[in-house]
Amino acid sequence: MADEETTKIKKMLEATFEAGFKELAKYADDLPDYKPIVDYFVASIFESKVTEWKGYKMSGQGFSCDTMKWVYENWTPWKDDVIVASFPKTGTTWVRNIVAHLYYRDNKTLMEMVKPMAMPHIYLETGIPLKFEILEKLPWKRRIFATHVSAPLFNFEKVKSAGAKVIYTIRNPKDQVVFWYNMMQNFPFQATDVNAHKMYPKDWNAFFEAAVSGSQLLGNKEGDWYMDNILSWYPHRNDDNVLFVIYEDMKRDPTKEIKRIAKFLGTEYSDEVLSEIVEATSFGSMKKNANPTEEFVKFFRKGEVGDWKNHLTVAQSERIDAIVKEKLADTDIEFTYEL
Ligand code: A3P
Repeated sequence: MADEETTKIKKMLEATFEAGFKELAKYADDLPDYKPIVDYFVASIFESKVTEWKGYKMSGQGFSCDTMKWVYENWTPWKDDVIVASFPKTGTTWVRNIVAHLYYRDNKTLMEMVKPMAMPHIYLETGIPLKFEILEKLPWKRRIFATHVSAPLFNFEKVKSAGAKVIYTIRNPKDQVVFWYNMMQNFPFQATDVNAHKMYPKDWNAFFEAAVSGSQLLGNKEGDWYMDNILSWYPHRNDDNVLFVIYEDMKRDPTKEIKRIAKFLGTEYSDEVLSEIVEATSFGSMKKNANPTEEFVKFFRKGEVGDWKNHLTVAQSERIDAIVKEKLADTDIEFTYEL
């Protein structure tokens, strides 16, 4: 029975990942066979493997330090490629979508092509190098990637000299941890995957502890959490090819923030078009147009500021306040916890 269940889940995962890459095959005649990538992702969800590079670690769901090392050493972005860097659940997908509208809104084919792109395709640290061969063959000239790693694993020099751009997203850590918990509850972790169960407990209090104590390996050093990710990217905030974007600012005034992103990318649109982009990238529109991966993990949950109040205990909230105070004391970052 257990074997039957295992086979069923494996087949379901294979079908999900295969569908994501099969979609892309519509846009280029000569894509290499993507089966090894599908096998890689299924294996990594069944039994996550901890990988390490420069003291930073990753585990599971297709994320790998080996891949990031390969990217650092061998992969060169194209001019005007955008890499959305972030700690998970801080607005990555929202910003990727805004950039997609700014870059491709007049090209129906590209808008369709990027729609199903999600974790398996565009995270620099997921998959195997073959994935980049596939992405290079697609008919786009300016691409949109994402990464959750800490800055030392990111080759700033190469990205800058290639003329590529980085947008780093920030969101208040209390809402971040709530979303992260909710999303990970929808992930199909396998009973065999001891690492995953330890990193992402079902119990909220245990999950909170695992998160803030840095036991979740997402391209960080063991013991490092979200604040350490911010601190690693913070020294680059004024680099010419880097833009910091704050989730709560986008909620407060999406038009202003989308204009700021458009200017950074060198794209120019009339106010009328910008307001169409604001509408097309609103929470409601994005939820309505969710891709299969996003639906699978119930990605579009609330998209609000302040939902943490319904989930965190007073002690948990104070714990985060203390970590923020200690870690961000020498920065000008001030989180917005309610609007
Ligand atoms: P919630 O759990 O609060 O709904 P990431 O893309 O970095 O994983 O971030 C996910 C969070 O961003 C989720 O938060 C998701 O709903 C929210 N999000 C995605 N698109 C959004 C949008 N257009 N407007 C507001 N929030 C959005």
